[in-house]
Amino acid sequence: MYVRFALDAELLFSADLTPEAVEAVGALVEESNRTLFRKGVPQGAGEDEIGRIVSWSATGPLVMLSIESGPYTRAHDGLFRFRKQIAPTLGRFRVGLRDIVVKSFRITIIGDYPKDVHIPKLPFITRSCLLGDTLELELNMTAADLENRIPDRVVRLVEEKIQACTYGGKTEHWELVFESGPKPRFFEGDPTEEMIKRNWVRHALSRGQWIHAPQSVQLFRAFEQVVVEQIIKPMGFAEMIFPKLVPWEVWKKSGHAKGVYPEIYYVCTPKTRDPAYWEDVGDYFKVTGEVPVEMIREKIDGPIGGLCYAQCPSFWPFLQGETLANDCLPIRIFDRSGTSHRYESGGIHGIERVDEFHRIEILWLGTAEQTVETADRLHEAYRHVFEDLLELEWRAARVTPWFMAQEGMIETETESSCGCGSRIGTTDYEAFLPYNKSWLEFQNVIINGDKYPTGFNVKIQSGVDCWSGCSGIGLERWTAAFLAQKGLDIEKWPETVAKLVGEPKELFRFL
Ligand code: SER
Ligand code: ZN
Repeated sequence: MYVRFALDAELLFSADLTPEAVEAVGALVEESNRTLFRKGVPQGAGEDEIGRIVSWSATGPLVMLSIESGPYTRAHDGLFRFRKQIAPTLGRFRVGLRDIVVKSFRITIIGDYPKDVHIPKLPFITRSCLLGDTLELELNMTAADLENRIPDRVVRLVEEKIQACTYGGKTEHWELVFESGPKPRFFEGDPTEEMIKRNWVRHALSRGQWIHAPQSVQLFRAFEQVVVEQIIKPMGFAEMIFPKLVPWEVWKKSGHAKGVYPEIYYVCTPKTRDPAYWEDVGDYFKVTGEVPVEMIREKIDGPIGGLCYAQCPSFWPFLQGETLANDCLPIRIFDRSGTSHRYESGGIHGIERVDEFHRIEILWLGTAEQTVETADRLHEAYRHVFEDLLELEWRAARVTPWFMAQEGMIETETESSCGCGSRIGTTDYEAFLPYNKSWLEFQNVIINGDKYPTGFNVKIQSGVDCWSGCSGIGLERWTAAFLAQKGLDIEKWPETVAKLVGEPKELFRFL
């Protein structure tokens, strides 16, 4: 991939430039091309790879510049280096820089474009043309946009689109790390259908949403208890409450803002809470029996964010900008305070693939070594739970989490003294579902590396990188996996679970 930048900009000064001032501008242009733009450029870089003012002119209070570059001292970087010098240079003539107007900005990216590559479409890309191996983009940029390095991010984005198209899907990683072997099975049916038959659950009125009756909740709470007894207590995880409405600010820092949009349940706020403003909406419903969604759309702001999706990101503002004392590490916490929501579209099925679900989210952080050690202990504890207590047929696999793959973190040895870099990633736990002979992911353990501490600017006293990990325990998924293998007759269940559940409460009788 080879990249070129070209810009035309107008520098507006506080007064007309005298001939002497114009001469000084000319001298600075010379100096820029000869030395200023060459600072920091690697030796051996080709002449046309380095930023260069290719033409300039001055009229009245205006200086026009055209800058072109390859990858070094990119045109926009050149512009700001020039700006830094022009201020003192023209200060001597008592004129000050008032404004920079970017007249045009072009990026040319030469690369290996796959046939169906998605060239980014963004409001400030005014023209885009891909011909063979050459992509030309015209950008409508302000000086602030250039300072914000938008052109560099556009180039990076094109790179990502090419990668996504070249490797997309094909290289999704899946590597078996443990397999339990067969376990006693007592059921061949679809657990949700059987739960519905016995009134353990009923469809709620939103998509992928269930109302759980006491029998189902008894199982949830039994599993929760197993987690508390086997994992939370022995390893010393402390309970916290993470918010369940997630504003963009959190997802910008967690990285979810890069791609979570198709699966969010969006949250909006009223434009005002003045009852008079909303009166006609209520009136419409009173008269028609319908809720006027279009009318409501006009009266709300946002979306300001979405409902809880990944559960742990909402914790991190608690540590934002802090430095953690060495002696409080590793931190081990968990949250079980509310639901998670994902718009699963066509994928919803039974209680195992739903839009609203219940999860215990375990989270830990510390040095790289501490983070990896906690993950290893968790794996051991989970293994005991699924082997000896739930007696499940399950397996564990190393997989690629999308949010890491997108940030290029996967399979790379991040620097760390213990060589923990290769441990960054997700391990999925999957259970066998006899009724459709497939494997259901029912929980995971993730070593996130320094992703969250970096995103939320969290440091450790000793100065080493802060790492974190998390593990989501999906209660619907545990239940689906367990019931799919063991059935709904409690006499057949492993003793520990049967004891914790007790006698299923049959509250309702329908006529
Ligand atoms: N936060 C992680 C996830 O969403 C673990 O629950 O997958
Ligand atoms: Zn998490």
